[in-house]
Amino acid sequence: MRNLKQILILGLLAAVSIGIGLWAGLQGHSKPQAPTGYADLGGDFTLTSDKGPVGLADLRGKVVPIYFGFTHCPDVCITSLSAMAAALKQLDAAERAQIQPLFISIDPERDDPARVGEYVRYFDPGFIGLSGTLDEVSAVAKSFFVIFEKVPLEDSNMGYTMDHSSIIYVVGRDGIVKSLVHHGETPAAIAKALRDALAG
Ligand code: NI
Repeated sequence: MRNLKQILILGLLAAVSIGIGLWAGLQGHSKPQAPTGYADLGGDFTLTSDKGPVGLADLRGKVVPIYFGFTHCPDVCITSLSAMAAALKQLDAAERAQIQPLFISIDPERDDPARVGEYVRYFDPGFIGLSGTLDEVSAVAKSFFVIFEKVPLEDSNMGYTMDHSSIIYVVGRDGIVKSLVHHGETPAAIAKALRDALAG
């Protein structure tokens, strides 16, 4: 007979092994990139900017760094978008003209296209912010293996925050993810990933 404590321990072990599985799965994507990139990640999508629909397929020929976040994010998104903007400043005008960064909100309940557009242009006037219905955004996030979760906040007028993966997906000119830049990388590392994708 299992007592409650044993059941709890089994549950905990199951949760830990699922966690390790997810972690290992994510780590698998961060190994040195194969020449073809990460064909199993992402894929074409269309979401909504404040200037109308934007499809990844419309951006063929450009390198498209994609980041998933939300405009109420207290720090992580700000750090990542600032690093991306700083990385672009390390490239010359001809290189920048071939790069189109996208920011996709995983909090469409609060981030409509107008809000997310205004937010990203604060970091760089060339950034495009995208939103959509929760189903639309969730489908795109899932295709990139982005994990996000609503977390209720007590004692805050914000109501809730969002936990989310913090990875820049560098999509190549052919629409395939070429590299992943993890949170905390320097603008120089991001600039290198962008240059490598421009060359590849
Ligand atoms: Ni964030």
